[in-house]
Amino acid sequence: MNTAVTSLPSLRQIPPGLSGRSSNAPRPFLKWAGGKSQLLPAFAQYFPTSFNRYFEPFVGSGAVFFRLQPEVSFLSDLNSELINCYEVVRDDVDKLITALRRHVYQEEHYYNVRALDTKKLSRHARAARLIYLNKTCFNGLYRVNSRGQFNVPFGRYSNPLICDTENLRRVNRTLRKVTLSSGNFEQTLKQARKGDFVYLDPPYQPISATSNFTGYTQHSFNFAHQEKLAKTVKTLSKRGCKIMLSNSDCPEIRDLYADFRIDVVTATRAINCKSDRRKAINELVILNY
Ligand SMILES: C[S@@+](CC[C@H](N)C(=O)[O-])C[C@H]1O[C@@H](n2cnc3c(N)ncnc32)[C@H](O)[C@@H]1O
Repeated sequence: MNTAVTSLPSLRQIPPGLSGRSSNAPRPFLKWAGGKSQLLPAFAQYFPTSFNRYFEPFVGSGAVFFRLQPEVSFLSDLNSELINCYEVVRDDVDKLITALRRHVYQEEHYYNVRALDTKKLSRHARAARLIYLNKTCFNGLYRVNSRGQFNVPFGRYSNPLICDTENLRRVNRTLRKVTLSSGNFEQTLKQARKGDFVYLDPPYQPISATSNFTGYTQHSFNFAHQEKLAKTVKTLSKRGCKIMLSNSDCPEIRDLYADFRIDVVTATRAINCKSDRRKAINELVILNY
């Protein structure tokens, strides 16, 4: 597989020392449930050493994307508020920074902003609202109810950084050539070809009643979706894409990917979405290379 890939002109070579990080590298600008920042050191050994284009269809806060910074990337997520936010950071970062600076860390303001009807806001006001709520809500969690309304309470912090101007500008530069879209994972993955690297981080298959976090969007991601994803992954694998997938360590997921290489990494996760207590749990890294 590597031989075919190395002949491609837009080949991305991952620099050596990937596990290190320079202090002025762009970082995720949102905190996200299931975010992969803490697992990046463990992931470094699994990233392919070369690939053509990069696809991440469950991008969330994009921890893996920001670590790799591939030259040609396709990022997507079903959460359209999230993708709007990425688009505004890419296309209109100055307006976004101006809008963010108007927000203050104050409980009454928080609930007023949370109650705003996003349909009546401009794209950059919507992006500023999402970043503001993310930086000041309880646990920095993005969670919506069945009508898609953000419903996380106000969080207690000593001095939250609402507008991280420097990082937003770095992210803006990193996103300039990135293709963004909001939608179901299958839509984006139709474009993946031989030699492309696809990193998949779907909502995890629940391993207990309290770990069942499904509030990323108003649509749930149930086992039928996991099966559909596994089918798509097998099609991509046959097509010659390099696949890396994260999920919880449970028999159902191990069965779905029985033909793949399966490794275990340890992550520290919140016990449930209402608590800030954490514990170490095993998670799967599933690979076809
Ligand atoms: C575990 S999170 C990804 C976290 C990300 N890797 C990070 O570092 O922050 C899963 C993401 O999948 C998205 N999602 C849920 N259902 C989806 C679907 N059917 N298609 C695409 N994205 C979906 C959620 O909105 C959420 O952002």
